[in-house]
Amino acid sequence: MAVLAYGHVASFYRIGLVFIAICTGWLWMGGMSSSPNLRFKIPGHPHPPPSFSSSRLSVSTNKLGDVLFPVPLSTGASPWVRDNHLMFQSLFDCLESFDCHANQTKIVLLASMHFRFVLLGGVGGEQIWAKSTIDALQNLGYTYFYTSSPGQTMQLYQMFPGLVKAVLVDDEEAERCFHDTEGCTFSEEKNPTGIPPWKVFSFAFWSNPANPLGHQWTLAPENYERIGLGHNTYLGYSIEFACRAQPFIPHSKRENQAYILAKLLSFFTPQRDRAWSPAIFDAATTATGIQYMIGATNDTLQGEWPAAELPSNYIGFGRIGQSVFFDKLSRARVLIGMGNPFTSPTPYDALCLGVPFINPVLQWDKENPSDKSQWVSQHSLLELLEPPYVYNVFKDDLEGFVKAIQDAISHPIQSFVPEQMRMPSIERRLGAILEKDWQREAALQTLLKQERG
Ligand SMILES: *[C@@H]1O[C@H](CO)[C@@H](O)[C@H](O)[C@H]1NC(C)=O
Ligand SMILES: *[C@@H]1O[C@H](CO)[C@@H](O)[C@H](O)[C@H]1NC(C)=O
Repeated sequence: MAVLAYGHVASFYRIGLVFIAICTGWLWMGGMSSSPNLRFKIPGHPHPPPSFSSSRLSVSTNKLGDVLFPVPLSTGASPWVRDNHLMFQSLFDCLESFDCHANQTKIVLLASMHFRFVLLGGVGGEQIWAKSTIDALQNLGYTYFYTSSPGQTMQLYQMFPGLVKAVLVDDEEAERCFHDTEGCTFSEEKNPTGIPPWKVFSFAFWSNPANPLGHQWTLAPENYERIGLGHNTYLGYSIEFACRAQPFIPHSKRENQAYILAKLLSFFTPQRDRAWSPAIFDAATTATGIQYMIGATNDTLQGEWPAAELPSNYIGFGRIGQSVFFDKLSRARVLIGMGNPFTSPTPYDALCLGVPFINPVLQWDKENPSDKSQWVSQHSLLELLEPPYVYNVFKDDLEGFVKAIQDAISHPIQSFVPEQMRMPSIERRLGAILEKDWQREAALQTLLKQERG
């Protein structure tokens, strides 16, 4: 269907392509060489290297994309430039040969810095979410480009205004663009080739609306709405990619060890609202013999924080990289939240590796402690799960903590990934977001606002 419909505009593209290609060739390659007569030597290329000069385009392969966006690039080129080149090649190739896949002529611009950080090896919560989003786009066959500045986003949008479905930006950029009616957002008089605001989505980790058009245009990594935290649009993420790359350690082969979720040693000070004191940790060691693993950056005693108060029986790894972290976590019997950081992906990694999670409840209604609606816990979404997966334990509750450790050890779990975090679920939600008629939605919002006065 989409391929057929595309045929109507294809002849336009044939003419337009050469022009577009020359412009973009200039813009893209301008950053890589200062020579006005560019010559590409492509090591190991099966064809003679194509050449390109300012006055003449001589093409020795018949693929425009290969000529204008050659790969490999000069050493030191940013990884996203390489990925963009590959994406341009396949898009141009399919446009030329009239065989684009259903979603290939739908473009998503990845402007949030977290997408680029993924390619630089970032593994923070935002980057894990970004990686999952890139994977989902790839699986659905959408075309996507990384952009590294508002100017580049603008320029790419203007190359393919009709094909760009969505621009995913950081929240500050959503705000900035929206108010820049000359250089960014569409304005009938001042910027008729600008980006329509309804195509701009904030890629924001928390539950507050972070887009000038409100919560619907704010994408969320978690289903915050389900726990009454606003109405941002739930995209979500999958951690399966990293978890499945890690061997599952049978419980019989695991040491009697728990992993403590705390990125910084200051999370072990009373000043940072720690969930458990050393006395509580030690009581669990006395009852079960458990030893604690800690992989945290030491930010104590040199900055504003006092000495960390640590359990008696622990091994500290200091700051560790992702692969060591996964290896250690996969050998644990239980993961223990220290109170901080909030809503991290780590407990999901743990569950996937067969490690239950002790989720500290930091605030609650003292009259009615079981009323979850009043809880503030380290992981507000995982509150919804029950043992043997998640043990919600009140801060400073010594007995509850010891019992949770005992239960976690005696009720080992198999790998568990919540259904809504599986890749097909992510793809389904992402597809629905990208296919929604956001222009209409924005018009409705405006009407509603006018009615309310
Ligand atoms: C953290 O660093 C401080 C300052 O270098 C040092 O005095 C302290 O012993 C360290 N803490 C741990 C638990 O290693
Ligand atoms: C194209 O994307 C839609 C969602 O937008 C999805 O339902 C469909 O399966 C995708 N097509 C292919 C071939 O992946």
